[in-house]
Amino acid sequence: MQSQGRTIRSRAARLAVAIAVAAATFATVTNAQSQSAAEVIKARQQGLKSLGAAFKVIRDELRNASPDSAKIKAAAADITRAAGGIGTWFPAGTGPESGVKTDAKPEVWADAAGFAAEQETFIREADKWTHLGDSIDASAWKDAAASLGQSCKGCHDKYRVKKE
Ligand code: HEC
Repeated sequence: MQSQGRTIRSRAARLAVAIAVAAATFATVTNAQSQSAAEVIKARQQGLKSLGAAFKVIRDELRNASPDSAKIKAAAADITRAAGGIGTWFPAGTGPESGVKTDAKPEVWADAAGFAAEQETFIREADKWTHLGDSIDASAWKDAAASLGQSCKGCHDKYRVKKE
């Protein structure tokens, strides 16, 4: 009796696992659309977070009496990479209508031409870093940082939900 009870329980357990697996698989398939929006949004927020971190490294270094050009170069390379990616970070269907938490305003897609223009400005500013060479000309770096910062702000002002 005892062993039979165990058998039944373990069968029930196996069945429960099978049902859970099937349910999870089903959920994955049926949620494929919203899940991929969630993934895209998460990836772009991470990309933007690293962009913010890289930009901070540069601004902090430029405040030093003797900026660390290696650090600046590494951060500038991160920014260049972000500039290369930003064009793919906002596919249709990844706005607030996806139900996923995002600070991207619907205008990103409603005003696609305006948004594209902001992206281009940013890409152009980011590209300037690659032309600063190995010089540690702090004033050139500062000018580049200031105009790059303007390109972040220009886009955020119009297309990103304002933080209180
Ligand atoms: C073309 C438009 C655009 C440009 C240019 C841009 N951003 Fe953003 N940024 C956004 C949008 C839209 C969001 C909100 C994204 C979301 O929540 O899905 C955002 C979010 C962010 C975030 C928050 C990410 C998070 O969720 O943690 C940071 C940090 C950030 N941007 C930094 C920067 C910096 C620094 C620059 C310039 C070097 C920059 N951005 C340039 C549009 C832009």
